[in-house]
Amino acid sequence: MKSVVVNGYGTIGKRVADAVSAQDDLKIIGVSKTKPDFEARMAVEKGYDLYISFPEREKLFHDAGIEISGTVDEMLEKADIVVDCTPGGVGAKNLAQYKDLGLKAIFQGGEKHEDIGLSFNAFANYSDSFGQDYVRVVSCNTTGLTRTLKPINDLCGIKKVRAVMVRRGGDPHQINVGPLNSIVPNPPTVPSHHGPDLQTVMYDININTVALLVPTTLMHQHNLMVELENQVEVEEIIKKLEDTSRVMLVKANEGLGSTAEIMEYAKELGRSRNDLFEIPVWQESLNITEGELYYMQAVHQESNVVPENVDAIRALLEMEEDPEKTVQKTNKAMGIL
Ligand SMILES: NC(=O)c1ccc[n+]([C@@H]2O[C@H](COP(=O)([O-])OP(=O)(O)OC[C@H]3O[C@@H](n4cnc5c(N)ncnc54)[C@H](OP(=O)(O)O)[C@@H]3O)[C@@H](O)[C@H]2O)c1
Repeated sequence: MKSVVVNGYGTIGKRVADAVSAQDDLKIIGVSKTKPDFEARMAVEKGYDLYISFPEREKLFHDAGIEISGTVDEMLEKADIVVDCTPGGVGAKNLAQYKDLGLKAIFQGGEKHEDIGLSFNAFANYSDSFGQDYVRVVSCNTTGLTRTLKPINDLCGIKKVRAVMVRRGGDPHQINVGPLNSIVPNPPTVPSHHGPDLQTVMYDININTVALLVPTTLMHQHNLMVELENQVEVEEIIKKLEDTSRVMLVKANEGLGSTAEIMEYAKELGRSRNDLFEIPVWQESLNITEGELYYMQAVHQESNVVPENVDAIRALLEMEEDPEKTVQKTNKAMGIL
């Protein structure tokens, strides 16, 4: 049983903590917060030992009646590995401390690939992280692209990908982000960072991406145009995606024609926080015209990277050499389809 700590118990961190707790070979021995808010209170109510990032704030937690177990420095001393889920840019700053402690660490997609040196997706490049000290789980959008492009590349080869990424303006709880009433080319230049980011885990993929921000909080949505190396039928692509872990085919004509309806479906699954770890692909959108595959998919940004964080722990700690086995183990414990 390996001891894991989560530095930054926010949108991603609280989900990673629960996903790790569900595994029979890993245990959470601490999570961290800077503020004594409801998430801090609930972490303690759930049974997590809570540590504070800024020792001078101890009194704030005390006054709020939230029990703390110590400081982040103390938490890190006890761990086999830390999953850093602090806001983008903070993780890279924390790296020096982890290095001083000789502590292995997993970072999130808000960090720059260059700052961490190695990026991770369980399906694309698991073995490159095996036994390494530091790795960055690629962002929610890049994880979404990898989940479907990797199996398609395995099936028939990919000459070139063009993707239009429609990105949510913020997460559902975020009250100060937007846009509120606009469609924003973001960036207005080509390529967006998503194509180059995909190349940090699918090294040889030829891809160009453009991205927009829109006033929604539920999911991202991707539109892909994929020039195929070898000719295949749409049915073969469908079969391949059906057989691919953490990908699901959904049908618009079954009432799942939008991100809102897909999130309603996620509620019906009855998982904690209504999470949808899988990438839903609209079956009707899969078409091949003149050797080019078209499809549309969505990404539940709050949760899709969570299983990959669990896989990354097993890779760094050399707990399982075979990516398929760790994916299966993670999936089973998390109830992933
Ligand atoms: N949200 C998404 O859609 C999403 C998807 C995929 C990847 N990511 C990536 O995951 C990472 C975390 O994002 P998030 O959305 O989970 O952020 P978040 O909800 O803002 O959570 C960040 C957590 O870090 C803590 N924190 C804030 N400032 C800190 C500091 N200076 N030192 C230590 N801890 C600090 C916060 O504690 P307090 O709340 O107590 O301040 C909070 O627990 C980022 O790299 C992000 O790009 C996010």
